[in-house]
Amino acid sequence: MKFDFETPPDRHFTDSQKWQKYQGKDILPMWVADMDFRCPPPVLAALHQRVDEDVFGYARPTQSTTDAVLDYFQNQYNWKIEKEWILWLPGLGVGLNAVSRTIGNPGDGVITPTPIYPPFLLAPQWADRELITSDLVLEENSWEIDWDAMEKAIKPNTKLFLLCNPHNPVAKVWRRHDLEKVADFCLKHDLVLCSDEVHCDLILDDIEFTPTALISEEIHDRTITFHAPSKTFNIAGLACALAIIPDSKLRFSFARTCRGIVSEVSNLGYAACAAAYRHGEPWRQELLQILRLNRDLLLQFVKDELPGIKATPIEATYLAWLKTEELHLDDPIAFFEKGGVGLSDGRFFGDARYVRLNFGCPQVTLVEGLRRMKKSLNTL
Ligand SMILES: Cc1ncc(COP(=O)(O)O)c(C=O)c1O
Repeated sequence: MKFDFETPPDRHFTDSQKWQKYQGKDILPMWVADMDFRCPPPVLAALHQRVDEDVFGYARPTQSTTDAVLDYFQNQYNWKIEKEWILWLPGLGVGLNAVSRTIGNPGDGVITPTPIYPPFLLAPQWADRELITSDLVLEENSWEIDWDAMEKAIKPNTKLFLLCNPHNPVAKVWRRHDLEKVADFCLKHDLVLCSDEVHCDLILDDIEFTPTALISEEIHDRTITFHAPSKTFNIAGLACALAIIPDSKLRFSFARTCRGIVSEVSNLGYAACAAAYRHGEPWRQELLQILRLNRDLLLQFVKDELPGIKATPIEATYLAWLKTEELHLDDPIAFFEKGGVGLSDGRFFGDARYVRLNFGCPQVTLVEGLRRMKKSLNTL
């Protein structure tokens, strides 16, 4: 290994949300989705270099930063995007709120398969839209969209489909045939599609990733794609993300929603983004190896050592979706916190039978977390 994925960075007493939550308590934070790994060295070098320029006025991407994005999309996904299609955002949480306010009018519907990353559920409601959900089903150990249920759930006033690919929290990579169904559904019901692809560079198995916008020309023109270097290169705190919107009318509407409300990306965000996309690939390849090892270790441990907990398949991300229903706990989060592990509560994702565990950390941290969970179960 060229890079150090073994030494845990000391994030105690820092500005880390993940670690501040349990400051002063002996609880390992394995909740919010950032990783306990140092950033790729080229990203750190670019940030140091930018700081050494000494001036931090209002920022705009340089041509070189834009080119880094265009080249990345071309090389990684064979998608030739145009510079004009890019709207820079300080985050995709912001993006989800902006898109919910842009498409349709108050009272109109937004449909999304659940369980899902909580802002997918909150943003439509905050935009006075009607939230329509439909549960994913676990069929033969594979998460699937239940298209019959989606057809039953959708209403004539539904205007927007929020898709997460790969899907947080079930870690599923939607295949081309799934995306074709998504596209057909959107065309049939005249929906705009927002495809959040922030986890697409964290695919752990040998599965081809297809940006939904590339499924057909028709879907290309009604898709808003969300992307960012934040998850993959562990720079979420630098607040730099992108919406790719090929259709000019849709793009102007989205930009109008953001105008004067959504802050601009910072100098450091642009610098880190360009460096990650241009020079981050060797680090990403090693990261994927580490995450695969962690994933395999976790799945084995859950199977062998954590009776009553069931892991579901993990094809991508560093997030495990664990079913704790059989344990009959009143409050699974409080139970595991008592045992020294801080997890995410499935109820906020739309399914209280589950918890989410973040395994984006050195193996020593993961092993300790799992050991603590086992010890907790022994108290039952
Ligand atoms: C699918 C998905 N979209 C958006 C976000 C939030 O992104 P940001 O930090 O850019 O607001 C996350 C964070 O976990 C996520 O998993």
